[in-house]
Amino acid sequence: MMAAIPRLNGQHAAYLVKQLDDFATGKRQGMTMNSIATTLTDAQKEAVAEYLSGRP
Ligand code: HEM
Repeated sequence: MMAAIPRLNGQHAAYLVKQLDDFATGKRQGMTMNSIATTLTDAQKEAVAEYLSGRP
């Protein structure tokens, strides 16, 4: 059973990057996100985090 998809808009960029790093290394488990996070470069994680944190 998949976890509810969390709301990302307006969350702090540093928090979002940390979660993506933790998904990429496997420190945080969440099947879909583990595979997505491993495909992102550090620059892409920062870009998507900046974008999401700037949305209301
Ligand atoms: C580039 C695209 C994506 C980004 C940047 C992204 C980012 C994130 C982040 C930062 C979290 C952690 C949220 C938190 O801690 O509050 C998260 C969790 C999650 N995302 Fe994504 N996500 C992406 C695509 C997707 C897609 C396509 C799906 C589903 C089809 C998905 C499903 C989930 C689920 C189910 C969780 C919760 C995982 C858990 O804690 O068990 N995400 N995502």
